[in-house]
Amino acid sequence: MKKNIFFLILLILLLLEVSSCNSDEKRIHPKFAITRNDLEEMTSNLPDRIKASILSRPQVFLEYIMEMLKEPQDIFQLIDKKHSLPSNYVPGDLVSLQKYDLTTSKRNLYLRRILMPDLLAMAEAARIAGTEIILSSTYRSFEYQKRLFDYYVKTEGIKKAERESARPGHSQHQLGTAIDFGSIEDSFINTRQGRWLAKNAWKFGFSLSYPRGEENITGYKYEPWHYRYLGRAACYLIRNFFGNSQQVFLEFYGKNEKIFKEKLLNP
Ligand code: DAL
Ligand code: ZN
Repeated sequence: MKKNIFFLILLILLLLEVSSCNSDEKRIHPKFAITRNDLEEMTSNLPDRIKASILSRPQVFLEYIMEMLKEPQDIFQLIDKKHSLPSNYVPGDLVSLQKYDLTTSKRNLYLRRILMPDLLAMAEAARIAGTEIILSSTYRSFEYQKRLFDYYVKTEGIKKAERESARPGHSQHQLGTAIDFGSIEDSFINTRQGRWLAKNAWKFGFSLSYPRGEENITGYKYEPWHYRYLGRAACYLIRNFFGNSQQVFLEFYGKNEKIFKEKLLNP
């Protein structure tokens, strides 16, 4: 009898061990409670190329998502043709750029405090490389964006205005994290500044919002001058997993933010 109980306990322990091994095996990262199935489900609506790159390197992908979870989540809010900010939204940490060691083409420019370390580091790196980066438009209030959009409609007609200017409430500039550099012309990409930013801005957390050939996704024509601050981890993911598409990335992150929090913050 005693012997039977002993074997029964041994069997239970063995079964427990096997089942815990199995659940560990299904995990794709030693620290996070996320399985390949979870990630397959989360990426199921993404273009095949993006999905394949995430599933082939899940650990790097998750490490960078984890870095993003440490940032204030409002910097990742999707603002586009369909998603807007309330008319009275003003970021709480705006700072005037006047006293900073930055080159601007206007006075009275403001940005969120949160991006200043990376912006200053980027301006310094550009200077060392022999390039001056010039900030020409930064935070815009709802009312300012309304005046701008109305001006475009009046001078160019509604169809062209919709491709070039966001409606009030729909501009990333209202977030206080978007910057237009230099001149707002396609030829900006052929300037020293435009080329330097295209190659290096992501390393400092700045992502090109409206890339060439993405008008069908973003709704806006190519804007080589318009960058949005998303932090270094998000920019790494956009560049290395999402084919440089900020729009596809932010839609994906917005849909899965809750589940990432659950699975990555509770090991
Ligand atoms: N030009 C961009 C789309 C804006 O107005 O925010
Ligand atoms: Zn802009």
